[in-house]
Amino acid sequence: MKNCNFVVQIYFVMWLKRLSLINFKNIRQADIDLSERFNCFVGDNGAGKTNVLDAVYYLSMSKSAFTMTDGQSVSHGEDFFVAEGTYVAESERQESVNCTFSRKGGKILKRNGKEYDRLADHVGSFPLVIVSPRDTELIMDAADERRRYLNGFISQLDRSYLASMMRYNAVLAERNRFLKGSSDEQMLLIYDMQLAEHGTKVYERRGAVVEQMRGLVEEYYRYLSEDKETVEIAYRSELEQMPLSELLLRSRERDIINQFTCSGVHRDDLIFKIGGYPLRKYGSQGQQKSFLMALKLAQFRMLAEHTQERPILLLDDLFDKLDIGRVQRLLSLVSAEEFGQIFITDCNKLRLEDTLLSAGVEYKLFKVEAGEVML
Ligand SMILES: Nc1ncnc2c1ncn2[C@@H]1O[C@H](COP(=O)(O)OP(=O)(O)OP(=O)(O)O)[C@@H](O)[C@H]1O
Ligand SMILES: [Mg+2]
Repeated sequence: MKNCNFVVQIYFVMWLKRLSLINFKNIRQADIDLSERFNCFVGDNGAGKTNVLDAVYYLSMSKSAFTMTDGQSVSHGEDFFVAEGTYVAESERQESVNCTFSRKGGKILKRNGKEYDRLADHVGSFPLVIVSPRDTELIMDAADERRRYLNGFISQLDRSYLASMMRYNAVLAERNRFLKGSSDEQMLLIYDMQLAEHGTKVYERRGAVVEQMRGLVEEYYRYLSEDKETVEIAYRSELEQMPLSELLLRSRERDIINQFTCSGVHRDDLIFKIGGYPLRKYGSQGQQKSFLMALKLAQFRMLAEHTQERPILLLDDLFDKLDIGRVQRLLSLVSAEEFGQIFITDCNKLRLEDTLLSAGVEYKLFKVEAGEVML
């Protein structure tokens, strides 16, 4: 097998030692003692494997990776859920994160017993990257899916980005409301100045992040595919042509007619290509999956470099659409030193154990059955 020629960097370790859940989706109650490295969850379809991973995602991102509302994560017929994690950081220092949601009282997030004023302040403190079959939405769906991904990723790298993005969205919503009832030029000018200020920051940060990702995605893809194919990623924004203030001025008449803001970073997109052609149209399912894997590995690498910590890596449905060679190359990559704690799910215990053994990986295996998690 061809080795990956990335420089091995050693980052601080931050890992989840214990995960406790109450009323989280189909998991009524669980206390899971985890390994610092590989944790595998096996079980039939619908058993609750992805739900365990989603709970880990909650503790880092303060929201679900899959459901739109917190209420959907509360077990049917119950009023609240609790997800609690005990993490171990450098020099064995322990940290706890507690996330509760109740239908009446909403969501409360605590770190070491202290409640956050703003959930956004937590994002990025316990870096995490998830790979799941749902990621294909990034390729198949409209641009807003790719912007959402980019926003989630950059927010973990840079909290001021999240603040700029939130302000931009607030002004945009206000401007659009205003356009429904008025076309007052003075007022629009004020909105435009604010949009230009926050939008330009968003544009610059997105551009810089995608530029850094580009090389990494290409390199990881080449490794996973054994140099069989090449992929490209690029950032597209109208702001490449002219500053946002000018774009807004030029589209003002159109905006007034449409009663909607037609220009700005809310129209940005990411372009994915394989062999020079659009990945959505010309990539096979396995090639698309490999691309997403390369994208997430690049994200992992950038988060690790930024935080100097090894993010937690969630690999939901490890074998989803990948051939065995690519899975083995992936495992041999993530078993290297620069990777930390990893969660893997699969519905086939034998296949998973065989592959992990041949990759020489030590792991802890949990069985999941109808919402019960067992060793
Ligand atoms: N709020 C909820 N309350 C109770 N059960 C729920 C809730 N949300 C989802 N579920 C149940 O959780 C189960 C799905 O769990 P999950 O997605 O973790 O399965 P899985 O083990 O990953 O399966 P697969 O192998 O198909 O991916 C389904 O049976 C679903 O009905
Ligand atoms: Mg699943």
